[in-house]
Amino acid sequence: MTNTAPFYITTPIYYVNDVPHIGHAYTTIAADVLARYWRLRGREVFFLTGLDEHGQKVQQASAKAGIDPQVHCDRLAPQFQTLWQRLNISNDAFIRTTDPEHKSVVQRYLQRLYDEKLIYKDSYTGWYCTFDERFWTEKDVEAGLCPDCKRPVEQLSEHNYFFKMGQYQNQLLDHIKQSPSFIRPESRRNEVLGFLQTQTLGDLSISRPKSRLSWGIELPFDHEYVTYVWFDALVNYMSALEYLPREKPVGNRFWPATIHLVGKDILTTHAVYWSTMLMALNLPLPETIFAHGWWTVDGEKMSKSRGNVVDPNEMIEKFGTDAFRYFLLREVPFGQDGDFSQSAMVTRVNSDLANGLGNLLSRTLTLIERTQGGAIPTPGTSGPAEQELQQTTLQLLNETLPRHLEQLEFNRALEAVWHVVQLANQYVDKTAPWSLAKKETAADQLKTVLYTMAETLRCLSLTIYPVIPKSAQSICLQLGIPEQFINPLLKNKIEWGGLKPGIMIHKGSSLFPRIESNPGAKPVTESPVPSQPTAVTPTLTAPPTPPAPPQITIDDFMKIQLKTAKVLSAERVPKSEKLIKLQVSLGTEQRQIVAGIGKKYEPDSLVGKTIVIVANLKPAKLMGIESQGMVLAAGDADVRGLLTVLEEVDPGTKVK
Ligand code: MSP
Repeated sequence: MTNTAPFYITTPIYYVNDVPHIGHAYTTIAADVLARYWRLRGREVFFLTGLDEHGQKVQQASAKAGIDPQVHCDRLAPQFQTLWQRLNISNDAFIRTTDPEHKSVVQRYLQRLYDEKLIYKDSYTGWYCTFDERFWTEKDVEAGLCPDCKRPVEQLSEHNYFFKMGQYQNQLLDHIKQSPSFIRPESRRNEVLGFLQTQTLGDLSISRPKSRLSWGIELPFDHEYVTYVWFDALVNYMSALEYLPREKPVGNRFWPATIHLVGKDILTTHAVYWSTMLMALNLPLPETIFAHGWWTVDGEKMSKSRGNVVDPNEMIEKFGTDAFRYFLLREVPFGQDGDFSQSAMVTRVNSDLANGLGNLLSRTLTLIERTQGGAIPTPGTSGPAEQELQQTTLQLLNETLPRHLEQLEFNRALEAVWHVVQLANQYVDKTAPWSLAKKETAADQLKTVLYTMAETLRCLSLTIYPVIPKSAQSICLQLGIPEQFINPLLKNKIEWGGLKPGIMIHKGSSLFPRIESNPGAKPVTESPVPSQPTAVTPTLTAPPTPPAPPQITIDDFMKIQLKTAKVLSAERVPKSEKLIKLQVSLGTEQRQIVAGIGKKYEPDSLVGKTIVIVANLKPAKLMGIESQGMVLAAGDADVRGLLTVLEEVDPGTKVK
């Protein structure tokens, strides 16, 4: 049965002590995938992310910058908001804990717990590190040194306010035992259970004297103190419902949250602090707290001091938004740690996106353009090969994908999608539509094959939309379907045949151009949202700059005769991966040209195209075949694109 309950998904709110990194992007992308998926399934979704702006870390960062903490937060907040736009994050609200509305909710909760005697004042003695400005417990401190900065710690006594967290230990334990999906994955659940079963849960200090930390929300019952940053931050999940989005707050029908996504390091604060706070406030607990793993970078811990912090903006510029989103969720099972490297990204993008999905789309569109005048054909009767592909595609859409996504198994969901991409490409290889196009008697069969390819792509666009939304939209636009994915397209079971024969395709440039293997080279900037069905991912990489070639005079240049030529036929040169033999028309004459473009182009896709050639090059033999000219193409060792002209011109027209 379809789940129609409201779906409330949150990310942690990120500290504004520094600019966003891959860890922030990871959780936010994962949350976005789930939000997009459930919207497609017809659930009402509220997706919240935001910033944690109080506390020591932010106070220290602003002091270091020599500016007021609020000014510091206001300067950094747009960095997160802009990144989320660039990453195509569809959050419904963005909370900042310095919002006055949030502050008043925190104060209301504090007052309530204080009135109910669940908050009390006591003195606290512990090991204090002046440098880190924090207390450590007896077991943290080794040889009198701070476990963090290794400086000597001192014993300090301080009066603070405490939340009676300890009294909820058994209630929390029972809840975790009774709700297997409350803490996920299972291994993390066992960790929390183990901790609660073997140790005594103490009370939680929820205040900081202003003399030590002034950047926080003042306690409503004692103006000498501010709230401990976690008591303030966790409340965001509730306070947001009261006032965001500002034009029409969503309200409490979204509570309890369906999923709090967090990193493994902040599981305890969520599973223990937040849960007991909610119990004290008599509020229901969230359905699921899911703790994901951490990324290392090229096998090392990511840190500022190592200088290996991955900047998501840089990855977007180098690889494109969708490729980055895809990689993060495809590479590592959600919940486990993973290693990030640009070379792994290049491999994934090239094999799965460029050669897999991108190739399937480009073959389909080229063939429809060339053999059907650009119109989606009416299919004939399906044979066993079509039926197999149809069934697997529908099973993916209606069963496999929902099963994996609903379990937050993003990598398995994508694996299943790419299994169908592979099957579809194999189907094309087997049915060889380019050969069918040559036989008049196979016209109906060709239509069936092309329709099957296009309809498979339409179905695939629905499956990839949550993870790579821009590419899904681009596929639809190129297939001629004006689909914006605004409606709940996956609300009902998907049937085969949704694509209407007769609609005209709009072939754009390739979905995912291959990336050269040197990803460190020149980045290309991507426009935030492509308005046309064009490339979704930019390509990159120029080889290291060669020494500048010697200058030539205009007379030298005029010696080269460039002309347009129309490709009449094309075939691969036997035993060569690279060479294609072209017969081209220059209007008044025909030429044979052998070109090294076979890695980039299928011969069939070239027929009918207008290209540019060097017409007065001395003939030469390549693998024993005479070449009477040379085609012009962009790229270096690897061809990236053949040159053509924007307007229709006659073959043989001079190019200058
Ligand atoms: N402000 C708190 C959260 C409060 S939620 C009520 C906080 N902020 S944070 O900015 O320090 O961290 C945010 C998230 O980034 C955490 O979920 C953390 O796990 C995640 N990551 C930080 N480094 C990471 C990696 N190297 N890899 C993956 N995620 C990582 O904690």
